[in-house]
Amino acid sequence: MEKLILDTDIGVDDAVAVRYAMLTHDMLGYTCSYGNVAVETAVKNCKLAMDVYKKDIPVYRGASRPLSRPPMPLSTHIHGKDGLGEYYENHFDSDASNAVSFIIEQAKKYPGEVTLATIGPLTNLALALNLCPQLPKLLKKVVSMGGAFGTDGHSGNMTQFAEFNILNDPEAADLVFASDLPLVVVPLDVTHKVLITDSEIAATKDEFLVNVTKFYLDFTRKYEHFAGMAVHDALTVSYLLHPEKYQTIETPLAVSCSGITDGQTLRPTTDYAVPFDKFKDRPKHTLCLGVDIDFVKQSMLDCLTKG
Ligand code: BDR
Ligand code: CA
Repeated sequence: MEKLILDTDIGVDDAVAVRYAMLTHDMLGYTCSYGNVAVETAVKNCKLAMDVYKKDIPVYRGASRPLSRPPMPLSTHIHGKDGLGEYYENHFDSDASNAVSFIIEQAKKYPGEVTLATIGPLTNLALALNLCPQLPKLLKKVVSMGGAFGTDGHSGNMTQFAEFNILNDPEAADLVFASDLPLVVVPLDVTHKVLITDSEIAATKDEFLVNVTKFYLDFTRKYEHFAGMAVHDALTVSYLLHPEKYQTIETPLAVSCSGITDGQTLRPTTDYAVPFDKFKDRPKHTLCLGVDIDFVKQSMLDCLTKG
């Protein structure tokens, strides 16, 4: 199994990714971030998940706010006040060692072997890059759920332009995109296409996931007239297992950090020889723009069902 660190602001779809990751990878640890919930809550939620699944995987605590701007409101209306659908009484504490140091330590301990999947704001990774500029040479791969590039109209879920994880800390995301990290971006263009229904979740018989998704599914049933959810974050794990099921391009990336397009993820879409090339000096990364929906969904559900 491949060594993996999962960086999460654990809300409901993160919980699916947390489970999928522990079933399919050699988990070195879960590093927590603010985002859907406060970082303290994210630590507590990860500890709860480890307890439920009887896993002894360490949990670390990272950034409590973006690099240089005030934090956005939490996503309590979708994920519940506790981020996990307000189902469990969570008695765990939020004590944990430093997530950013952990990412760097593990990358140095196992050079070229560790993959980092990020499923929240990119603040922890940006901090790790700032502290350890050689990180791009040490990590095997980074797979990040975030952004939206407009394929089939999937252009944003927080504004018409911006996706949640990127909008939480556009400066951090731009720093990551500008780096030489071996980065794969999994944006809304693909994650909005892989929807699972309440009955499909129930069929997995994974009690924890059934319980924590109830609140989210009530929300989509009421406001979106669809009893199901996009499992955005789980697609990072799916990509690592089945990269051939994703259609990708190699492209430089950037993030708008102000104005009406604040948080918008950008790539060059013209070959026209412009005099001011905004992507000059930016490395290419792998960007997912298409996905084999049925395969990705079924393989994930099969894995969760087998447990
Ligand atoms: C992302 O936003 C969060 O609310 C989800 O957990 C996911 O990481 C999707 O835009
Ligand atoms: Ca998330």
